[in-house]
Amino acid sequence: MTELRWGLLAAGTIAAHFAAGVDESKHGVLGAVAARDAGRTRDFATRFDIPKAYGSYEELLADPDIDAVYVSTPHALHKQWAIAAAEAGKHVLCEKPLTITAADAEEVIAAARAHDVFLMEAFMYRLHPQTRRLAELISSGAIGEVRAVDTTFSFDSNPEETARLGDPALGGGGILDVGCYCTSLARLVAQAATGQEVVEPAEVSGMAHLSATGVDEWATGLLRLPGDILATISCGIRLTREDGIRVFGSDGQIHIPRPAWIHPLRKPGVSQIILTPAGGEPEVIEVEATQGVFAREADHVAAHVEDRQAPELTWAETLANLRTLDRWREAVGYGRSS
Ligand SMILES: NC(=O)c1ccc[n+]([C@@H]2O[C@H](COP(=O)([O-])OP(=O)(O)OC[C@H]3O[C@@H](n4cnc5c(N)ncnc54)[C@H](OP(=O)(O)O)[C@@H]3O)[C@@H](O)[C@H]2O)c1
Repeated sequence: MTELRWGLLAAGTIAAHFAAGVDESKHGVLGAVAARDAGRTRDFATRFDIPKAYGSYEELLADPDIDAVYVSTPHALHKQWAIAAAEAGKHVLCEKPLTITAADAEEVIAAARAHDVFLMEAFMYRLHPQTRRLAELISSGAIGEVRAVDTTFSFDSNPEETARLGDPALGGGGILDVGCYCTSLARLVAQAATGQEVVEPAEVSGMAHLSATGVDEWATGLLRLPGDILATISCGIRLTREDGIRVFGSDGQIHIPRPAWIHPLRKPGVSQIILTPAGGEPEVIEVEATQGVFAREADHVAAHVEDRQAPELTWAETLANLRTLDRWREAVGYGRSS
């Protein structure tokens, strides 16, 4: 398998987790990091023993020793840097959401295609064995005909520490930050239930509490998915709620109290899926992850880099999710300042 020399574009919170993941990966090596502040870049490079530290993203993209770039700027800057990386001939792993809108994602995908590089949106939870097992259970008919999904990803962030989440210019709000997992998960369930590769909802509605600047601080959406599967999806950046996934079918239900996107599940270990047949007792299915999520993600890119797309996170998958997010944000009046 190809060994990839990684360059990190931005040295923020998630970049540190990914750097540790590359260190643990089987087919990745940390080659360089770039941040806007040269001093901070050097500190980051020292912390993770990265051989090169650049004070600008452009310098890293000009480095011929870098094969693949991990973009972890705030959402609104993903498009610019993913396109710049593709133009520089680098393979691209870009944090979620790939862009703010589906139209912007089309442009990033066109750049990847034109410059013949790999591109994947970093929805690492899709690669976790727990998510894969959920899809298998649904497609094998473990709960019969799937009829409804409820999923929530919501946390109460400190506005001072997470300024990007409150700033509409940076793509703030919960729908783009964590609601994207809920749309992705609900669509995955419908995909597994119907056997279709990529699905989109026929109807999307929603409501949100908007901040004074117009970003959604807590939101709920309703999706009518193929197979008439109805999904209730909830997210927030200023509200702690119980995260979880529940899938209801004609012959039973599945509950995942700790979905693969929560922080503790980033590490190797055992997680649970609770399967309750209609009228029966709950059965706890244990799923073991032998690798941390970011190490798995880096190895997944290496495994599929020659294909240019990863089978579980194709470009069609990214576009379908972003179109759903466009519709959810429109339904809640995103951007309407009070
Ligand atoms: N997969 C996951 O589990 C996960 C978890 C959290 C976040 N994320 C995603 O990762 C991305 C970054 O999130 P984060 O939590 O790491 O954010 P963060 O800690 O605020 O880091 C963002 C970095 O972006 C850089 N940046 C470049 N231009 C900027 C600008 N105009 N304003 C502010 N920052 C700018 C800064 O890097 P330099 O100063 O270092 O250049 C900053 O360190 C988001 O898109 C988010 O959705 C993914």
